[in-house]
Amino acid sequence: MSNGFNFDFAGKCIIVTGGNRGIGYAFSRACAQAGASVAIIYRSSKDADEVAQKISKEFNVKAKAYKCDVGDDKLVTETFRKIDDELGPVTGLIANAGVSVVKPALELTADDFHKVYNVNVLGVFNTACAAARLWTDRKFQGGSIVLTIVTKVDMFFQFHPSVIGIHYHPGKNAGDSAFSAT
Ligand SMILES: NC(=O)c1ccc[n+]([C@@H]2O[C@H](COP(=O)([O-])OP(=O)(O)OC[C@H]3O[C@@H](n4cnc5c(N)ncnc54)[C@H](OP(=O)(O)O)[C@@H]3O)[C@@H](O)[C@H]2O)c1
Repeated sequence: MSNGFNFDFAGKCIIVTGGNRGIGYAFSRACAQAGASVAIIYRSSKDADEVAQKISKEFNVKAKAYKCDVGDDKLVTETFRKIDDELGPVTGLIANAGVSVVKPALELTADDFHKVYNVNVLGVFNTACAAARLWTDRKFQGGSIVLTIVTKVDMFFQFHPSVIGIHYHPGKNAGDSAFSAT
């Protein structure tokens, strides 16, 4: 008796931003386990190549790590084209990369806001657009984009009224809107 979901992603190629660690790593593994080729986008982690190789070996699929700042739209477009050539055709995107700055609200600076928005909002917009461009260029209509968001915002504020959230939660919601707009 099956007690879970079964997906067959054979023939698919899925880009997972922030797919080398945390929640994104679980997405990368799940996609590979279902048979997809997986392109992991990371920013600076030293072991991203090893993580990709491990996933590739474990599930006998193609998996490769690509260093790319999702806030840099030109680099994102170039990287997505490279992935499309090397592992593709790309059929899906999991826009998961996200950051926060954890400090008391009164110590947050404009730089902190930019740091969070560049990844959580612009990063989602840039990657969703880059995927959509690949698909419109080849008139492909079966692409899927999944976005990692945040829920329970009210509860979060209730328990952590002054710590984080004033830049992080609106940013995650704006990222959701940026994604919906593409
Ligand atoms: N953790 C939670 O409790 C929680 C709850 C709800 C939602 N979320 C959301 O889930 C997602 C993943 O969270 P997490 O806790 O698993 O994150 P994490 O462990 O902190 O990992 C963040 C990932 O994003 C990548 N990244 C950060 N900035 C980037 C950039 N500019 N360009 C490309 N990649 C970048 C990092 O790459 P490097 O390794 O190279 O730095 C890393 O792979 C985020 O969107 C977060 O907002 C998290």
